Amino acid sequence: MVGLGPRKPPSRKGSMADVPKDLLDQIKRLEELFTVPQEKLKEITDHFVKELAKGLTVEGGSIPMNPTWCMGFPDGYETGTFLALDMGGTNLRVCEINLPEEKGEFDIIQSKYRMPEELKTGNAEELWEYVADCLQQFIEYHHEGEELDELPLGFTFSYPATQDYIDHGVLQRWTKGFDIEGVEGKDVVPPFEAALKERGVPIKLTALVNDTTGTLIASAYTDTDMKIGCIFGTGCNAAYMEDCGSIPKLAHLNLDPKLPMAINCEWGAFDNEHKVLPRTPYDIIIDKESPRPGQQAFEKMIAGLYLGEIFRLVLVDLHGNPDVKIFEGQDLGKLKKAYSLDASFLSSIEEDPFENLSETQDLFQNKLGITTTKPELELIHHLTCLIGTRAARLSACGVAAICKKKSITSCHVGADGSVFNKYPHFKARGAQALREILDWTSRKDPIEILPAEDGSGVGAALISALTLKRCKEGQTAGIRDPEAMLAAAKKMKVKQ
Ligand code: GLC
Repeated sequence: MVGLGPRKPPSRKGSMADVPKDLLDQIKRLEELFTVPQEKLKEITDHFVKELAKGLTVEGGSIPMNPTWCMGFPDGYETGTFLALDMGGTNLRVCEINLPEEKGEFDIIQSKYRMPEELKTGNAEELWEYVADCLQQFIEYHHEGEELDELPLGFTFSYPATQDYIDHGVLQRWTKGFDIEGVEGKDVVPPFEAALKERGVPIKLTALVNDTTGTLIASAYTDTDMKIGCIFGTGCNAAYMEDCGSIPKLAHLNLDPKLPMAINCEWGAFDNEHKVLPRTPYDIIIDKESPRPGQQAFEKMIAGLYLGEIFRLVLVDLHGNPDVKIFEGQDLGKLKKAYSLDASFLSSIEEDPFENLSETQDLFQNKLGITTTKPELELIHHLTCLIGTRAARLSACGVAAICKKKSITSCHVGADGSVFNKYPHFKARGAQALREILDWTSRKDPIEILPAEDGSGVGAALISALTLKRCKEGQTAGIRDPEAMLAAAKKMKVKQ
């Protein structure tokens, strides 16, 4: 099977023989709601291609298509020591990355800090203080007693940001359930730097990076066929390399049209106007109850943050339907709590190896206090497959759209994130959808979505290195203060 791409998911036989008619009818209804057939995938992809182009125009569209000022791929020979801060959604991670002389190599040390739930809905000051504290701790721990010059830092801030410069970023809006007051519409760099300065932490921010751009660059560092970087995790998004001549909204800057520019698509916002995506009543509830209704329509059908919630909403709805007998006489208190199930809950159900779904039965019992019958378990299992398959198939539309837009017929796509790495069959289902969209018949898939290198760590370091390098070479477009950047580049080595 080598070279044939991900294998088809094995299908559990699962007998529907004993499933009563009301549940069978519901399984059928859910199948209709959640299945995205080939023709629909193609229609979504075609609309996606147009929306990608629209996002690059002066008028813009739903998809932000943010120019990132990451201008080119690495050649594998980038060197230096960099810090990287990753504020992705679930955790905060600080890394120190050393890029040695050897091509495509790196060493990394890292510490993870939990992102307190309260912080996600707190205020800006608390956020920057927490972030700066983590960086300070990291430096004190790993460089105790050392005299340090300013360390260059790549800050992976994985939210939509308008960047006039690489070391600047105005948060367009929070995504992934974040709702921190006083950050939207503002440049995130000055308050971040101020918090560091207050603590005397010796850091120079060289690049503000999106996780997708980091993923693209980190993956291309070791594999030159990588043309797209994707995240399928708490959120869902992609980045690719455009040429400046194809970005009408940058035309006023008179950049050389051949210069490359990584675009952070922010494709989670695809179809916010609800023209093509086959939304179910459950997707509509998710949107309505979220902190930013009307935003991230695509992401809310795909990303890890929402998969468990879609599943939960379906089950609660079925239970409330007088025509359906499900979880009769059971206390649904736990199941009724919003966002109480995450994507890993669904993963475990899909992975249940037993014909009688005994692991799923235990999960429902232990986590939710619900005793399930065999027919209910069949419905539950079926539902997770439907939700997981829809997510993978819709994701493939975005990848296919970028390839179509750029006339890419063969490449590697670097992907990272909990859903991509951990959700069962996500890769195989995505690959199958790509085949259907792009009508491949060859034995080997010409476009493959593969596990990426660490974008938020190594990618951010590489983007810092590339920025310092181009600054030294006199290519200072999109660098706020080239003098200060050059001074940082000169001081770069950590004094031992
Ligand atoms: C959300 C963010 C985006 C990020 C993605 C994956 O879509 O808006 O910036 O890349 O999640 O983390």
